[in-house]
Amino acid sequence: MPPQMLPERKQVLIVDDEPNLRKILSAQLSRDGYDVLTAEDGEQGLAQLREHHIDLVITDLKMPKVDGMTLLRRALVEEPELPIILITAHGTIDTAVEALKAGAFDFVTKPFDKDEVRQIVAKALKTRELRGTDATPASAGQGARFGIIGNSAGITELYAILERVADTPTTALITGESGTGKELVARALHEHSSRKDKPFIKVNCAAIPKELIESELFGYERGAFTGAVTSKPGRFELANGGTLFLDEIGEIPIEMQVKLLRALQESEFERVGGIKTIRVDVRLVAATNRDLKKLIANGSFREDLFYRLNVVPVRLPALRERTGDIPLLVEHFLTKFNERLRKKVEGAEPEALEVLVAYPWPGNIRELENVIERAVLFCDTQKLRASDLAPEIRGIPAMANVPLPEADLSAALAGEGGLKEHVKVAMSRLERELVSRALQQTTGNVTHAARLLKISRKGLQLKMKELGLREGSPADKGE
Ligand SMILES: Nc1ncnc2c1ncn2[C@@H]1O[C@H](COP(=O)(O)OP(=O)(O)OP(=O)(O)O)[C@@H](O)[C@H]1O
Ligand SMILES: [Mg+2]
Repeated sequence: MPPQMLPERKQVLIVDDEPNLRKILSAQLSRDGYDVLTAEDGEQGLAQLREHHIDLVITDLKMPKVDGMTLLRRALVEEPELPIILITAHGTIDTAVEALKAGAFDFVTKPFDKDEVRQIVAKALKTRELRGTDATPASAGQGARFGIIGNSAGITELYAILERVADTPTTALITGESGTGKELVARALHEHSSRKDKPFIKVNCAAIPKELIESELFGYERGAFTGAVTSKPGRFELANGGTLFLDEIGEIPIEMQVKLLRALQESEFERVGGIKTIRVDVRLVAATNRDLKKLIANGSFREDLFYRLNVVPVRLPALRERTGDIPLLVEHFLTKFNERLRKKVEGAEPEALEVLVAYPWPGNIRELENVIERAVLFCDTQKLRASDLAPEIRGIPAMANVPLPEADLSAALAGEGGLKEHVKVAMSRLERELVSRALQQTTGNVTHAARLLKISRKGLQLKMKELGLREGSPADKGE
């Protein structure tokens, strides 16, 4: 919807499979001075949304093809500030509440009063005007609360936790693999608390040399050590009134853990070389991708500190545990990189999404973000195709996880060969395994096996010769 074509009259889209309801509502709203468009189901509704500039949507929940909830989600990914009013039948209040959480403006229950709908419509359009329409997708809409995208069970649960604890002084411990959004969540906790206008101070415990951690956290007085020519406040003091985020808390040296524990328990500490006790009001959020329970077991993390930190445990699921969120995340990153790279990729082809869903994402959302950035850069079609994705993502998701035994890896480094030789040996082994398996599965039928391997028949015959595999005897690997 190019801005120069914005109509003066507000456009309202009514999506409902009941013709009568569509008729009554459109008549009423036309009389009120709106331009009204209608659609019979969610699918048509989405098409209308793509084709026209729509200011407001009124939609039924239960509809054939694409239902109201899905319409809501998809529409809000595209346009987070779009006011959507849901019409719900009696007894679907739960869904209505879910819809509100997902970013619906309001809902009316059937049978409804015309004036009620008129009022809500007017209010929604007014709100939209006041807000302006240029919010970023991450700030509102379904699956985008707290700037965190997702609508899987794991993320919905996360929203609930954030809602409950964001504005409390309680310490939270965020755990999750690398790239799952730990820092994003830590910032969300801060942004949604009454501390949001006070500092958010991040300390990466893994990045600070062991001997400097104490002075970094607690500050130092002049002359505390060589080089301390002035005194300096630590991160605890800088975070006063706000939030202190201790990232990679698992890396904090054991000697420091007692001091940290005391600072947390008593909200007071001394600067290094200082005698004055300093009191601060700090909300602590810690994060780690390590298994602290294991660190406790091997003696490198204090159990008492763990319990002190773990008041509210927030576990972030790995992306492969919530592949349902991938389409939403893809949309989100497409919007982001379209803007940044001045491209106009409109979405992803189903086969591209399939590839993305199948890939195991060891680097989680950060990796997905990088993959989409690269794909947007390479994409020269309207929609992202599987071929725009990097080969390691696309080709062989199963092979991306081939176990590489620790012992073999160190033996390789200790042995004679160089990188090239090792890769060559490993590749030919893999090649042999895949070719023999394809032949086994097709009981030796070279044509079928070639199709499975996506190479030509001729190519397979050559390969078999090279590998010493004979035609017609799949079990015989030529050894
Ligand atoms: N649910 C999400 N929705 C949108 N973006 C996300 C989400 N989770 C993570 N990201 C993005 O993914 C990237 C990595 O997130 P973040 O830095 O918070 O991960 P992390 O868990 O702290 O990783 P690490 O352990 O490597 O430090 C960031 O750009 C972040 O904005
Ligand atoms: Mg991080």
